[in-house]
Amino acid sequence: MFQVFAEGRNRDVQVSIMSKRTKWDTKGDLDESKNLPIYQHKATLQQAVKDNSFLVVTGETGSGKTTQLPQYLHQAGFWGNGKIGITQPRRVAAITVAQRVSQEMHCSLGREVGYQVRFDDCTTQDTVVKYMTDGCLLREILADPVLSQYSVVILDEAHERSLNTDILLGLLKQTLSSPDKASKGRSVPLKVVVMSATLETDKLSVFLGGCPVFTIPGRTFPVTSKFSCAIGPKDTESSVYVKEVVKVALDVHTSEMAGDILVFLTGQSEIEKACDMLYEKAESIDYRYDVQDHKVEGLLILPLYGSMPTDQQKQIFQPPPPGIRKCVVATNIAATSLTINGVKYIVDSGFVKQLNHNSRVGMDILEVVPISKSEALQRAGRAGRTSAGKCFRIYSPAFWEKCMPEYTVPEIQRTSLTAVILTLKCLGVHDVIKFPYLDRPEERFILEALKQLYQCDAIDRRGKVTRLGELMVEFPLPPGLTRALLQAASLGCEDLLLPVAAMLSVENIFIRPGHPEKQKEADKKHRQLGVQAGSCNDFTMLLSVFEKCKASDAPSAWCKDNYIHWRALKSAFSVETQLREILLRLQKRDFPMEKFNGNKSELFRRCLCTGYFTNVARRSVGKVFCTMDGHGSMVHIHPSSTLFDQEAQLDWVIFHDLLVTSRIYIRTVCPIRYDWVKDLLPKLHEVDVYELSSVAREEVTDEEVAKWVTKEAAKRQTGGSAEDVF
Ligand code: CDP
Ligand code: MG
Repeated sequence: MFQVFAEGRNRDVQVSIMSKRTKWDTKGDLDESKNLPIYQHKATLQQAVKDNSFLVVTGETGSGKTTQLPQYLHQAGFWGNGKIGITQPRRVAAITVAQRVSQEMHCSLGREVGYQVRFDDCTTQDTVVKYMTDGCLLREILADPVLSQYSVVILDEAHERSLNTDILLGLLKQTLSSPDKASKGRSVPLKVVVMSATLETDKLSVFLGGCPVFTIPGRTFPVTSKFSCAIGPKDTESSVYVKEVVKVALDVHTSEMAGDILVFLTGQSEIEKACDMLYEKAESIDYRYDVQDHKVEGLLILPLYGSMPTDQQKQIFQPPPPGIRKCVVATNIAATSLTINGVKYIVDSGFVKQLNHNSRVGMDILEVVPISKSEALQRAGRAGRTSAGKCFRIYSPAFWEKCMPEYTVPEIQRTSLTAVILTLKCLGVHDVIKFPYLDRPEERFILEALKQLYQCDAIDRRGKVTRLGELMVEFPLPPGLTRALLQAASLGCEDLLLPVAAMLSVENIFIRPGHPEKQKEADKKHRQLGVQAGSCNDFTMLLSVFEKCKASDAPSAWCKDNYIHWRALKSAFSVETQLREILLRLQKRDFPMEKFNGNKSELFRRCLCTGYFTNVARRSVGKVFCTMDGHGSMVHIHPSSTLFDQEAQLDWVIFHDLLVTSRIYIRTVCPIRYDWVKDLLPKLHEVDVYELSSVAREEVTDEEVAKWVTKEAAKRQTGGSAEDVF
């Protein structure tokens, strides 16, 4: 006898209680909005937004800020002067909340209520309530600095301190505090609301010139937290904590009273693994004997992560069928961005996936790190929304003390600022040091960004945006990739680079099944695809998969047969079209064109070199390569690469990104010839970051540029190498 329901990659929701089949009502309760804490304050909030240019709104997660406030402003008629825009740091939140609000407002998604996230625009001319990622609003500001299409802009989840939200805060503060700028091109002044969970609201208010703070009072219930000894300061292997959260979640299911479970893990592959393990183990539960609460008759397992299909995401919010306990296995997204009703138990792994600047290799890397103590409290709090709850921490008090920092460092202080600094420069913010940052990034990060922009020819020696920089800022891609794409376009071979850029912008397209036999078969198929691709490197492999699938009569069957994610490829097709549209628009302006005489494979790889010369490595001994960017890190080719095990035949390579575990791996690799980067490599060492500091601050004088040029000429004469300069 078993009752397990799993919503995984390949499964439909299965609901079978004993022998009878129960239909799962997936509508949810739309009337609930009147019971949310924010409802009592509707009129006051409407008035407060009318009376102030800036307003900070704070309240517990789940009090109704994100879903309700935009509707209140809509009802108060704000849309008459332009759209109501709400930003979210995460794309899943923007999409699912827009879905929910469109249901509450009884309209179809994309009409009055819509969303826009990178590469997915679900809005029409009728859209007046628009949810979007903070990155999208930043792009809109580039085209229209006073946001003339909006009456109100709500920066939501400000406590998350995402890089883009922090920059938007600074930009809007600058615009609104200068009356000239603020009224230019607008009939009615823009209103800005900043929403945040309870942290740091005073700081936000002071930053925004002492604006009022509206606090939504809300009640929370006590949550008891228990530590365990399973994970100590040295246990950071994912296989260890995944196993442990599965064990604890099952214990909760069998020994605790009814109430849903929310499990925090770090990313898609772990979550899918945990769901599979939970499913397998839960199948053998005998509900007559094994379960404490006899009202609990089954377990419904649901994964929740960023790149999940949206129809699956919707189901997370639905109440489970009677007698069934829901267990959501989620990334950090469920900590504040999304509230799942009915959660009474939290299982906290203690880890999160975070983008950090890694000074060892000099690049941003997505890595798994311990969460902060404040994050752990936030996670636990999710169990006490509607009644008392329990939080099971799988880590020890020693882990809490030794490994977990007090607070999470804002993204602006720990990641690359290259794209954001280019945006600021394009907006005419020349002095990127004096810009009003809520928390100032370290100066060396700003200088590093300027150096990279200079290396990709996006800014000149004076820190002014070049023609190429103006083109680059139009693409929602990392600067190196954009540079390579623009190089290809100027040589008339964009058809080679556009699909690659698209493939690198979607989730991983290669399926690697958990079952060892299937894994072997998948690896074999992938290898075959690589061989067919001819010149055989990871970039041409991406191009080949894209083209083959596109040319196929039955693309989804082709994907299945070759262990490729059809959904990811479909997104890549759409991204490629969008990138092509941007390029076509730019090509209508005066676009630089060059000539090239050589074969296609060389052309393709040379274009890549233009953007990726910062990621060059040379084989030193055996299978070990050494990066050439001044860090001289020792790296290995990742086993997923088509070039894995062929290292002996390689000399120079470029790569797309790094993965740091006990070793440093390079991923998406391509062999190149030294000749192709010979002229580019000196650029890596040509600029001294400290000399760039005047570029960061103010206009550079002719004198300074002259001094610089002379110094460099001298360096060249003495044959200055990387080591000499840094
Ligand atoms: O923004 P805040 O955390 O204050 O709350 P909210 O996201 O507006 O959530 C209010 C309520 O809407 C919660 O009870 C959520 O569970 C529910 N909700 C939902 O059912 N479906 C969504 N897609 C989003 C929220
Ligand atoms: Mg919210």
